Amino acid sequence: MLVLNGSNSTSLGEKIAIELGIKFENVTTRIFPDGETYVRINTDVNERDAIIVQTMFPNQNNSLMEFLLIADVAKDLGARTIIGVIPYLAYSRQDRKFQPGEALSAKTVATLMKSVGIEKLITVDTHYQHKGHGEFDFFGIKCLNVSAGRLLLDYIKEKLDLDFMTIGPDLGSSEMIKYATGEEMFLTKEKRCPICGKLAQECECKIKKKKYEITEIESKYNFQGKNVVILDDIIASGGTMIKAAKKIKSEGAKKVIAAATHGLFMKDSLIQLKEITDYLIVTDSIMTPVSNVSVAPLIVEVLKKS
Ligand code: R5P
Repeated sequence: MLVLNGSNSTSLGEKIAIELGIKFENVTTRIFPDGETYVRINTDVNERDAIIVQTMFPNQNNSLMEFLLIADVAKDLGARTIIGVIPYLAYSRQDRKFQPGEALSAKTVATLMKSVGIEKLITVDTHYQHKGHGEFDFFGIKCLNVSAGRLLLDYIKEKLDLDFMTIGPDLGSSEMIKYATGEEMFLTKEKRCPICGKLAQECECKIKKKKYEITEIESKYNFQGKNVVILDDIIASGGTMIKAAKKIKSEGAKKVIAAATHGLFMKDSLIQLKEITDYLIVTDSIMTPVSNVSVAPLIVEVLKKS
């Protein structure tokens, strides 16, 4: 067995290989001047089981292409099995059609992966059809999705030495919160119609669900004097986490800690979140300046069982 890493996950690939006690092979990759991707595997993979570690942010399209090329050449070189370890799986949120004619991008990604010999995927807190952790069928590929929630909370307990309560910033985080804490505590969003101004549930304009404006975050919890961890799977634009942190702070929380598996931190959301919160932490599923928790132990545990 050996680990082949993509250029987005060099350090994670190395950690996984070290913990498994197997060979780590730095695949040569580069981008040609015209933007195309070059890949070369410099080792013998014939009759070996290959694990390709490649997270898919930043540069989703390039990192997907790189992953496909590594898998295809590993297959051509005679790899026995190929497992894809993709902590952040690009396009997984485009897993259903909202309007006729839309691309079902997650299915296309799975089709491409199958064509280059990927038999199994390991992902972390993938936002795929809101299925939570565990095993699921990713359009024909066996996918094992692990959750980093407990890992993040354990780190906070150990590092910050605080008593805290844990809450999700919205309904979408409820599965992750339940798995990490055994409880389901999350904030809700009040949505209003931009035409009549009424609450979404009272509006009769029948506009598209997505067009309702979020005006207020609702909470039924008491945050006064408490340390609060807001836990989520992903910080993308940062809007969800920023709104939740502001709300909890305004209700008298002592310390607000923002924790998430994937830190995409679009635009200036990293700076904003650092200013609003007392502590900000994500995992190394995507490398950021606040990636203080590694998902390597989670992935190694799963690989040892496979
Ligand atoms: C939603 O259900 C997800 O769990 C995240 O809360 C959401 O995707 C975060 O996105 P953003 O950072 O853009 O608000």
